[in-house]
Amino acid sequence: MPELLYDIQDRIATLTIDRPDKLNALNDAVIAELGAAVSRAEADPDVGGVIITGRGPKAFVAGADIAELAAQGPLDGKARSLRGQAVFRRVERLGKPVVAAVNGFALGGGCELAMACHIRVAAESAKFGQPEVKLGIGPGYGGTVRLARLVGRGRALELLLTGKMIDAEEAYRLGLVNAVVPADQLTAATRELLGTILTNGPVAVRLCLEAVDAGLDMSVDDALLLEANHFGLASATADMREGMEAFLEKRKAAFHGA
Ligand code: COA
Repeated sequence: MPELLYDIQDRIATLTIDRPDKLNALNDAVIAELGAAVSRAEADPDVGGVIITGRGPKAFVAGADIAELAAQGPLDGKARSLRGQAVFRRVERLGKPVVAAVNGFALGGGCELAMACHIRVAAESAKFGQPEVKLGIGPGYGGTVRLARLVGRGRALELLLTGKMIDAEEAYRLGLVNAVVPADQLTAATRELLGTILTNGPVAVRLCLEAVDAGLDMSVDDALLLEANHFGLASATADMREGMEAFLEKRKAAFHGA
């Protein structure tokens, strides 16, 4: 039975992890479904952006499925980590904006999934943490890599080494989430944010995603060159002409993503 819901409305695909009785823990089947859903959203020209969330008021995702992890040895553990990392990397490199609507516990793989999204909006009730050390393992789905990049080395290590849980306000203070909203406004706030992004030129949005993703791992000079190349490339698009003409004619731009 599918444990991930896929719904499209107003050019936004919403991917909902649907295992509420296990707090939406990511077992191997859900990771595979997530990979397939990401590919579907990437390939569908009617999808402009993606929201990832969890079903139920309690959890976004409470981590990888500990029942599965408990049975793993070194080789299948490594293979599981690589599979999860690959799916999360595809989220990050989807080429369309992906926003996490964090509706509850985002622990371990849940915090890692939220961090692989481009932007995170959290309900006031959300809780974050990387508690893997309490289980005698470290993060396996990119936690050591993305947390340090998002909040800085010292703060990341504090969370990773203590395994402590923090609330949404603290996550906001650390820069782990972009916004905190009342739980009953989470869906509307997330859709509004993504809707704003979708009014902009799709090629420009895609190039920004790519420049930041690739640029963060380059020297400043290489990253600046990439940005200049993107700037030149965007100048060849009909969207650029439309965006500038619309400004000069004092009307709303109608972008077509080319
Ligand atoms: N993997 C597998 N099952 C999980 C899970 C996980 N990561 N997180 C929660 N569950 C299951 C519980 O085993 C329980 O199942 P059961 O009803 O069949 O016994 C169900 O989800 C509800 O969880 P429960 O622990 O009873 O809820 P709680 O409100 O008392 O506690 C948490 C909530 C999030 C604090 C607690 O579930 C927890 O610590 N989860 C693990 C978090 C973690 O370590 N994640 C990293 C994994 S690498």
